[in-house]
Amino acid sequence: MKRSKFIAHIVLAGSMAFSAPLLAQQKMPVKIHGRADSESSLEAQAESLLRQMTLKEKVNMIHATSSFTSGGVPRLGIPEWTMSDGPHGVRLEHGRDWNPDANVADSGTALPVGVCLAATWNPQLGYAFGSVLGSEAAARGKDVILGPGINIIRTPLNGRNFEYASEDPFLVSRMVVGYVKGVQDQGISACVKHYALNNQEYQRTTIDVHLSERALREIYLPGFRAAIMEGKANTIMGSYNKVRGQWATENRYLVNDILKKEWGFKGVHMSDWGAVHHTQQALWNGTDVEMGTDLAMLPNPDYGKFFMADTVISLVQSGRMPEYIIDDKVRRILYVMLKTNVIDGKRKKGVYNSKAHQETARRVAEEGIVLLKNNNVLPLQKSAVRRIAVIGANADRKQAMGGGSSQVKAFYEITPLQGLRNLVGNAAAITYVPGYTVARGANADAASIQQAVDAAKAADVVIYVGGSFHGYQHTVWADNAYDAEDVDKPDMNLPFNQDALIAAVAQANPRTVVVLLGGGALDMTRWVDNTPAIVQAWYPGMEGGTALARILFGEVNPSGKLPMTFPKTLEEAPAHKLGEYPGKDGIVNYNDDIYVGYRYFDTWKVAPQFAFGHGLSYTSFRYSNIKAAVKGKSATVTFTISNTGKVAGAEVAQLYVHQQKAALPRPERELKGFQKVWLQPGESKTVTIKLGEDAFQYYNDVLSKWVLEGGAYDVLVGGSSRSLPLSTRINL
Ligand code: GLC
Repeated sequence: MKRSKFIAHIVLAGSMAFSAPLLAQQKMPVKIHGRADSESSLEAQAESLLRQMTLKEKVNMIHATSSFTSGGVPRLGIPEWTMSDGPHGVRLEHGRDWNPDANVADSGTALPVGVCLAATWNPQLGYAFGSVLGSEAAARGKDVILGPGINIIRTPLNGRNFEYASEDPFLVSRMVVGYVKGVQDQGISACVKHYALNNQEYQRTTIDVHLSERALREIYLPGFRAAIMEGKANTIMGSYNKVRGQWATENRYLVNDILKKEWGFKGVHMSDWGAVHHTQQALWNGTDVEMGTDLAMLPNPDYGKFFMADTVISLVQSGRMPEYIIDDKVRRILYVMLKTNVIDGKRKKGVYNSKAHQETARRVAEEGIVLLKNNNVLPLQKSAVRRIAVIGANADRKQAMGGGSSQVKAFYEITPLQGLRNLVGNAAAITYVPGYTVARGANADAASIQQAVDAAKAADVVIYVGGSFHGYQHTVWADNAYDAEDVDKPDMNLPFNQDALIAAVAQANPRTVVVLLGGGALDMTRWVDNTPAIVQAWYPGMEGGTALARILFGEVNPSGKLPMTFPKTLEEAPAHKLGEYPGKDGIVNYNDDIYVGYRYFDTWKVAPQFAFGHGLSYTSFRYSNIKAAVKGKSATVTFTISNTGKVAGAEVAQLYVHQQKAALPRPERELKGFQKVWLQPGESKTVTIKLGEDAFQYYNDVLSKWVLEGGAYDVLVGGSSRSLPLSTRINL
């Protein structure tokens, strides 16, 4: 979708063997009785509805009938199918067109973004997160929530990293299953996206991704496979880009061969908005619903002119397209509609803007914020802090409406500054200095830096809140675009000359805490050594300010862990060092292959700024007593973890596997297990992690299959990919 169309889209939003006639004569009135409680009953009901439909009615179901609905069959009591963005909140009301409906109480729970959820490393929270989304979607009369977004974080520059989860397929898989089940247990369909290889926004609607089968299988597909086979996601969204020369949404290999045949997917594969390019290829290659082609027709869209609309009727009637191809699509849509009570309307009501939902938003922020560095400055003691300088425009900036289609009109949003003010009350004086402006070409200039330095000098402690920002098409410009859909960041630098500002402030007051908002790694090399405390807060949602304040003052002990590596500089990031980015002549070759993130840094022995899985606590943990019991091709690993400090805390114990000698090269180590453990001071717990065959296999794309090779494997355990105090060798 062209930028201009996209902007239009947003500004307006801101701004089968029998032929149909024969079947029609055999109409039998079928009463749909309440929710089917078994697959076979669902399939039978879908079949009996399908048999009653005319060709025209069937075709009406496989394309959009408005911006966020696909067609129904009123004659049979089948309503339109209603969808809504997005991955971290039900988006402001977009009924049938891109113009927000007037007088709609459409603000809702703004959860933290995907990477913040992933940074909790807590699958149960993933479930809670999904439950909030499903419940609010139901309350707003939506049938499908267009999330989670789970594309692998391959380059720090991808504009939509904030919306996703991780560089590691195992962490993505564990977090996505909880999320999808949470949504669908509310009777709403999740839509895992964007399938597949949408790892950059630069030329997202045209770029052609080429990669090895091994990288596809080991890195880029596992998250989707888990969402479908374990999470049982009802729907999946095809991505805009091409894969190996064919559009991803009309891709026989990705959709028919892998998704529908290999994984046995019975739900609906819908296109991204405007991602269908050919009628025949979409019909034959597994696109079930075409969405968003109207963007190319704005402001007067004709839904009959979609690729999968009127043309399809004439193709079938002239015998050039067998009707069973259409039947399969409609059968899938009916199956999901029946499964989620779209037809009988007997779905849980859903709840909107509840305190419980806001509490979940806060818990995800509290468990997802990562303490990166702390030289005895944190936690702040209320009694010892009388004057606080809060510096940085992100302290006072609301983020929820940023980022693009994932925007959420928040019922309210507590900014970092507000969170601090609420917590501190009149126990301390807070001086706020923006220090820089979020605006085209703006830079923290001498005057604003001086103002910040003066405030820093006069304070007991400085809390700097800066980093990236949630730019957005119609407010964001290509040369300085940040954390937004449809654009990538130009580099890893902090925008608006913040480096100079941070350095000056840290110089003026050694007790400076730097809090970074953003979707991932930024280049901190210019000030990281002179800053005693650094906190990564992502975009922490409507309760983010509360969560951040509670962490800074020790009311909550941070337990977040990085879900992606923070390189020191962009040049050291594998997609840039080994691979191609952003590609040239419309093609990008993933030569970094399987060496994404820590798989590169640990194998090439390059020190990152902060490692995958890294995150500090206000207490300390000791690992001991690792044991592994091998049974056939599986192993059970146990170890003890103890809280050796003075405050309660949670540690994410991570388990990595290293194969001593493999027929093909393998990364130094790969995450194959983790568990988040809460411990009181002095408390110890024994953790058990079961490793199945898949924990030791790799995909041999010479043999085109997953292989488990006999021999020695090391199992390593610790609190980050770079801190693995326990190891034991096993032989398979
Ligand atoms: C957008 C996004 C997709 C979103 C859809 C509907 O272009 O790529 O994530 O769900 O269109 O807004």
